[in-house]
Amino acid sequence: MKRIAVLTGGGDAPGLNCAIRAVVKKSDSYGWKALAVRAGWAGLLEGNISDLSVESVEDIGMAGGTILGTSRTNPYKIDGGNERIRKNLEKFEVDALVAIGGEDTLGVANKLSGEGVPVVAVPKTIDNDLSATDYCIGFETAVQRAAEFVENLHTTAKSHDRALVVEIMGRHAGWITLHAGMAGGAHMILIPEFPFSMDEIAGIIEGRRKKGKMYSIIAVSEGAKPANQEEFVTRNERVDSFGHVQLGGVGKVLAEEIEKRTGAETRAVIPGHLQRSGSPLAFDRVMATRVGVMAAELVKRGDYGKMVAVKGSQLSPVDLGLGVGKLKTVPRELYETARMFFG
Ligand code: F6P
Repeated sequence: MKRIAVLTGGGDAPGLNCAIRAVVKKSDSYGWKALAVRAGWAGLLEGNISDLSVESVEDIGMAGGTILGTSRTNPYKIDGGNERIRKNLEKFEVDALVAIGGEDTLGVANKLSGEGVPVVAVPKTIDNDLSATDYCIGFETAVQRAAEFVENLHTTAKSHDRALVVEIMGRHAGWITLHAGMAGGAHMILIPEFPFSMDEIAGIIEGRRKKGKMYSIIAVSEGAKPANQEEFVTRNERVDSFGHVQLGGVGKVLAEEIEKRTGAETRAVIPGHLQRSGSPLAFDRVMATRVGVMAAELVKRGDYGKMVAVKGSQLSPVDLGLGVGKLKTVPRELYETARMFFG
C-alpha cells in the first residue's frame, strides 16, 4: 500500500479542493493511503502531516480556498531545508508527493525531483502563467470574478461621467486582465507584457469624450507599467521568500495621472483578493478534478518529475522543468485582438 502526500502552496485558488479530493479518491481506489501536508512546503519542513481520509474530502469540492492551507515558504531559503523535507518524507513513510502550485511551489518541486524525491505536480495559479499548460486551476474563476467587476463598473462610471481604473491581479502576466477586460467591456486593457503610453491613454479617453461618451473603464494589471519606467508600483518594501515584491497601487497612480491630463474625474478600484475568493466555477471544478485524478495515475505509473498539463481539452504529462522554466505570457497577437476594441 502506497502512502501519497498532497500539498498546496502559493496563493490559494478556487478549485484546489476539487484537485485534493480527486487525488485522495483516486489513491483510495488503488488501495493507497492519502496524507495531508499543512500549509505547503512549511508543513513538510515541520512534519505537519496527517491522515487524509476519503470521508474528510467528500464534500469539499464546491468550496473555494484549500482545506490543506497554504504558504509562500521556500525551503531552499532555509538552511538544510531540503534535507529536512527529505527526512520528514522518510519519517512519515511517504512514497510519493503530489505538489499543487504555481511557479514558486512547482519550482521547489522541480528541484526536489532533481534530488530524487518522487514528485508529481499539478498546475495551479489564477495568473495562468505556468508554461507547457493551457490551463492552471483557478484561472477561469478569477477571470469571471474580475470580468464581473469590470462590467458592473460601467453603470457607476456612466452615471458620474467618470474614468474608472480597475486594478487586476496577475503579477507579471496579463492573462486575467486581458480576459476580464475583453469580457467585461473595458475601453482599454493595460498588461505587463506591453508597457503603456500615457499619451495614448489620455488620447483614448479624450476621443471618447469628444464623441459624447463621457465615461471610460480602464483595466490595468497590477504589474503593468509605463514604457519609460523600470520599476513596478509596489504596495510596500516587503519581498517574500521567493523574491517577489507585493505589487499594487498602479491603478491609483494611473487614475491620478489620467485626471491631471484629461480633466476627467477619475477613481481607482482595487478588487484585490476578492478575485480569487469564493467558490470555483464549474469549469475549474471539473478541470481540477481531472488533473487531480491524473496526478494519482502518474504516481501509479511511477511517472515522477512530471506536471499534469492541459492541452486544449486533453491532459498530458510534461516534464516539470518545462512548466516552471519561464513564465507563459500574453502573446502580441492576442493583445492586438483586444486592442481592436479600445476606445
Ligand atoms: O499568484 C497569485 C496572486 O493572486 C497574484 O495574482 C498576486 O499578485 C499575488 O498572488 C498576491 O499575493 P498575496 O496573496 O500574497 O497577497
